[in-house]
Amino acid sequence: MIRVGVFGATGYAGKECVRLLESHPSARVAFTTGSGGAHLAHEAGLDQAADAYLLALPHGVSAKYAASLRAARPDATVIDLSGDLRLATAAAYKHWYGHEHPAPQLLDGTPYGLTEVYRDRLPGARLVSNPGCYATSVLLPLVPLLREALVDPDDIVVDAKSGATGAGRAPKEELLFCEVADDLSAYSPGRTHRHVAEIEQVLHETSGKTVALTFCPHLLPVKRGILSALYLRSAASPAALAQALRTFYAAAPFVRIVDAPPKLSDVVLTNDCRISVHAAAPGRVVVFSAIDNLVKGAAGQAIQNLNRCLGWDERAGLPGGNA
Ligand SMILES: NC(=O)c1ccc[n+]([C@@H]2O[C@H](COP(=O)([O-])OP(=O)(O)OC[C@H]3O[C@@H](n4cnc5c(N)ncnc54)[C@H](OP(=O)(O)O)[C@@H]3O)[C@@H](O)[C@H]2O)c1
Repeated sequence: MIRVGVFGATGYAGKECVRLLESHPSARVAFTTGSGGAHLAHEAGLDQAADAYLLALPHGVSAKYAASLRAARPDATVIDLSGDLRLATAAAYKHWYGHEHPAPQLLDGTPYGLTEVYRDRLPGARLVSNPGCYATSVLLPLVPLLREALVDPDDIVVDAKSGATGAGRAPKEELLFCEVADDLSAYSPGRTHRHVAEIEQVLHETSGKTVALTFCPHLLPVKRGILSALYLRSAASPAALAQALRTFYAAAPFVRIVDAPPKLSDVVLTNDCRISVHAAAPGRVVVFSAIDNLVKGAAGQAIQNLNRCLGWDERAGLPGGNA
């Protein structure tokens, strides 16, 4: 049994980490924190209390904890669920997050934990940056298709919809029940959503080209789940694209290529991602991708990454999976 400390466990993502760890066969929760004791880990003495740490903290805060834990416990495994370590440079972070990076020394060599895509970078890693929820839903279908040059990197449009837990638990007027219920709205238009940066970074690494993504997020009146629709230009048939995805994810327990458009209820409370491919207009396809933002989009993928880092079965403790 390894001991796992969960920072930010009063928030939505941290609570989900605790919930999932409770059924993990090889890990147990050593301690949890909220912001009540808002100080760096070593000051609380918590850095000695666990063998692995999940950081479900706001960006700007999380990297300070990661730096402190790395210094105090170089052998421990730290998974950061925030956006702090996702972008490759401190300059990109400042551009997208609007403030200086709190620990730029951590950016070099920290793997981006999109598990199925970067699985070989994870074994033995001591610090992993967990991807954003929207980014996970967009990149899982897109990366294999771009790697095989089956879709045009210059023409990618994503219309994505998320449940309200995606915005965190802190009270906000626009997230009040009466503002969200029975309604649907777009937000962060015009290249302002931060996940655009990490998606474009991965697409650049994958295709070797600078990719400008059109990305429109929407707020759904449900608690959890993300459904992304990707409008792509392709000379290949939908069947050929679906086959390429099936081949890429043949050994991936949590990604399933399905025939009908996936529903949120297919994936909520699981670590699964379901993807389908359909004809749109001539030369265009639409690809649907569904995940639970708090599981595959946050806590589940974090534990999947922890499992990979420690050499365990990546399914350990996680709901869903094909096997
Ligand atoms: N929600 C999602 O779907 C999702 C998906 C992927 C990634 N993430 C990322 O995961 C992280 C947590 O997100 P969330 O949605 O769970 O947010 P949240 O519900 O607002 O929870 C934030 C947590 O951090 C704690 N906290 C806030 N300020 C702190 C400080 N200065 N020092 C120490 N602890 C502090 C809060 O404690 P109190 O409750 O005591 O204030 C709470 O436990 C964020 O970086 C977010 O971007 C979230």
